[in-house]
Amino acid sequence: MFTSQEERLAVDGGAPVRTAPWPTYDKGDVFISPEDEQAAIEALRGKLYFRYDYRPYEQTFTGRLESRLAEYFGVPHVLACTSGTTAIALSLLALELPPGSPVACPAFTFSATPSAIVLAGHRPTLVECDADLHLDVADLRRALEEGARAVVVVHMRGFASDMPAICALAAEYGVPVVEDAVPALGARLNGRPLGTFGHFGAFSTQSDKSLNTGEGGFLVTSDPEAYARAVVYSGAYENRMARHFGGTAPPGVDDLAYPIFGFRMDEIRAALAGSLLERLPDRLALHHRNHDYVTERLAALDGIALRRPVAPGAYLGEALVFRLEGADPQRCARFARALTAEGVDARALGDPADTNVRTFWNWRFLFGRDAEAARAAFPRTARYVGEAIDVPLSANLTLEDCDDLVTAVRKVLAGLR
Ligand SMILES: Cc1ncc(COP(=O)(O)O)c(C=O)c1O
Repeated sequence: MFTSQEERLAVDGGAPVRTAPWPTYDKGDVFISPEDEQAAIEALRGKLYFRYDYRPYEQTFTGRLESRLAEYFGVPHVLACTSGTTAIALSLLALELPPGSPVACPAFTFSATPSAIVLAGHRPTLVECDADLHLDVADLRRALEEGARAVVVVHMRGFASDMPAICALAAEYGVPVVEDAVPALGARLNGRPLGTFGHFGAFSTQSDKSLNTGEGGFLVTSDPEAYARAVVYSGAYENRMARHFGGTAPPGVDDLAYPIFGFRMDEIRAALAGSLLERLPDRLALHHRNHDYVTERLAALDGIALRRPVAPGAYLGEALVFRLEGADPQRCARFARALTAEGVDARALGDPADTNVRTFWNWRFLFGRDAEAARAAFPRTARYVGEAIDVPLSANLTLEDCDDLVTAVRKVLAGLR
């Protein structure tokens, strides 16, 4: 029941909280400045688009981007490539696991994570997530006991997984860890950048990531030999791999011993990414500001459980995720639709009418068409993902936009029957 015209939900015909479109990457204008445009134009006008032409490494946009990213992350080796998916696959390929190895990954992730495991020739083994949608470390032990040969951890929606616990557990079983840090570029856990805890960290520069070049990605690592193999696999033939080692002797990796997959980044994209990197700290600060502003105002509300970080500040802030505890999928779907009607883009992750690829039971390439059987295999993740509402928090949001979000959540919580 509503008591006044203001409180009547927009989905029931009331006035919406806002009418301006909710800023998201697919509506454009995601933190691109005139300097970024200029950098891409410079690369275009240079007419040298391939990273491995006659120029020395340090004179290419791609080489310079890798060096600057290495400095930013405090790691010795970075490889720019075509996407986050290929960054994960290259990391796994470089680890030289036996073909068809079981590789653990969380059941709450974007479908690109298990896809990358498949691309690398391995078999995804899912691990349950906890109520905060973080990889459940106890269930990871089960997967390792059952023979997982590597772990791909995901910092899903920008929230850090518990890396110290996960790395310690993986070390106990002698298996390497790859961080799918695609959604968390620039986020830190206890002061250390996500992506630098594991053997490899994989990132994307696709449009809604902290560096937006449309498509693209990179990996970071401290292991020179595995790095050299990843470089070769990405498509560095005829001794081009050696250029990545700055005049020092490259590791003894035979570049004819591996297939090459053409996952190289091009010069135009690298120029754009390099320019964006200059303003990454500004963008990260805005993400944190917006996330903290919204969550501080929603924290005390009954009926929603905000996602809690594993350590203070250990998130990027590019999404607001909360659960409607105990709500069934239909109610969550109605809640998201009501929020959207108020002018805030929202999705119930487990909406039965949706084919959201962040819900594992929609991964028919792994489970076939029996979504119920898939859900039964990972019941806790099915429950928690099913209760989750997901709202994108673009870095372009103003505090007025954030106020609208807070008002809309309060209004829908109070008004939805
Ligand atoms: C968790 C996660 N992993 C991997 C990817 C794949 O990145 P890309 O689209 O650059 O291949 C995404 C894409 O959004 C993602 O969210």
